[in-house]
Amino acid sequence: MTISYETVKVALNNNSYDILIGDGLTAQCTNIIRDKSRDGKFLLITDENVARYVLPKFQNHMEKNNIRLEIFTLPVGEKAKNWINLEHICEWLIAKGVERNDHIIALGGGVVGDITGFAAHIIKRGCNFIQIPTTLLAQVDSSVGGKTAINSKSGKNLVGAFHQPSLVLIDPMVLDSLPPREIAAGFAEIVKYGLIQDKSFFNWCNAEVENFFVGDSATRIHAIKTSVTAKASIVAADEQERSGVRALLNLGHTFGHALEAEAGFGDTLLHGEGVAVGMVLAFRYSETQGLCPPHQAKKIAALLSKAKLPTRIADCPISCDGETLVGHMMHDKKMSAGKLPFLLARAIGQAFLANDIDIDNIRQFLDDTIASEKHS
Ligand SMILES: NC(=O)c1ccc[n+]([C@@H]2O[C@H](COP(=O)([O-])OP(=O)(O)OC[C@H]3O[C@@H](n4cnc5c(N)ncnc54)[C@H](O)[C@@H]3O)[C@@H](O)[C@H]2O)c1
Repeated sequence: MTISYETVKVALNNNSYDILIGDGLTAQCTNIIRDKSRDGKFLLITDENVARYVLPKFQNHMEKNNIRLEIFTLPVGEKAKNWINLEHICEWLIAKGVERNDHIIALGGGVVGDITGFAAHIIKRGCNFIQIPTTLLAQVDSSVGGKTAINSKSGKNLVGAFHQPSLVLIDPMVLDSLPPREIAAGFAEIVKYGLIQDKSFFNWCNAEVENFFVGDSATRIHAIKTSVTAKASIVAADEQERSGVRALLNLGHTFGHALEAEAGFGDTLLHGEGVAVGMVLAFRYSETQGLCPPHQAKKIAALLSKAKLPTRIADCPISCDGETLVGHMMHDKKMSAGKLPFLLARAIGQAFLANDIDIDNIRQFLDDTIASEKHS
C-alpha cells in the first residue's frame, strides 16, 4: 500500500535532506527507507515509552517487509542524555558492526534524537542517521536542523555537534499516545514560528487551537508542515548559527532556559513550558523597552493559556528572584565576550536579535515581573 505524504526540503550545500509528513508513515515506510539499508537491517535507538507505544507497529511493518531491526532502548527522560548512555550506544553500534555509510534510526522524542544524532556524528567519524520523531516537540523542532547533543554536569546540551539527518519521517498519528502535557509543550514551539516571522500563522494558531488539541488530522499536518518549513528555511540561511539568522529560533529560550535550570531540568517544567513563559517574557520586556506596541504579550499569553501552558513565572514550580534567574543565564552557552544575545520583538511576527542588552536591566525587569505577578 502506498501512502500520501507531504515533503519539505531542507536545502543545505552538501547536507540536503527531505522531511516527509503523513499520517500512518511509520507503518508504511519500507519503500521509502529500504534503499538506505545495506544488508536488510537497521540499527535503531529508542526509549522505553516509545518502545511500548510506537515501536511495535513500526517493527511489525518492517519485518513483514523483510527488514530486520536491532534495537537499543534508553531509559526515559532528560537524564538519559548523558555521557554514560552515549558510551553504551557507541559501544553497541560498534559491536553490531555499524559502517560509515549506514543509516542509524532515532525513533523517539528530542532526547533520543539528540543523543543518537551525536553518536552518529562521532561513530566511525560520522555515520548517517534517520530521525523518526515521536513527540510533537521533536516533530516541529528538534528532529530538523542538525543540532545534536548530550548534557554535561555543568549544563544542558553543552557537549554536541552539528550533524544533519539524512531523512526525517514525521507521522502525526504517533502523537495519539503522547500525554496531553507533552502535546502542549510542542504547541509552544509551533506558536514560536508565528511569533518569529509569520503573524498570519500566529492568527491561524489562534483560530485553530481547539481543532489542534482534539487531534484533527488536517490541522495537525498544517501546523507541523508550516513549522518545519519555517525551521528549514532558517536553517538553510544559517546552518551552524553563525550569522544570527538561526538565533531567531531561540525566541523565548534565554528566559525559558533560566526557568528550566531553576526547576532542575526535569519533568516539573518541560522545555516547551519554559519556552512558553520565556516567549511571553521576551514580548513583555520588548514592550517595557518601547520596542514593541503594548498588549502583544497579553495576546500571546491568551493563546498559550488556551493550550493549558504556563505563561507567568508564578506558574512555574520555582520560587526565586531576578538575580537567581540572571545567574542561570550567565551559564548559557550563547554567552559570548560577556554579553548574552536576547531575542526581542517589534511586534508579533517580527522578532530580532539584540546583542547589547544590559543584564542589570533584565534583572530589574524580572524582579518587577515577579513582584507584579504576586499582586495580580
Ligand atoms: N536538537 C534540537 O534542535 C533541539 C531542539 C529543541 C529541544 N531539543 C531537546 O529535546 C529534548 C526534549 O525533547 P522531547 O520534549 O521530545 O522530550 P523526550 O524525548 O524526553 O520525550 C518526552 C516524553 O514523551 C515520551 N514519548 C515520546 N514519544 C511518545 C509517544 N509517541 N507516545 C508516548 N510517549 C512518548 C518519552 O518517552 C518521554 O517520556 C531536550 O533534551 C531538548 O534539549 C533539541
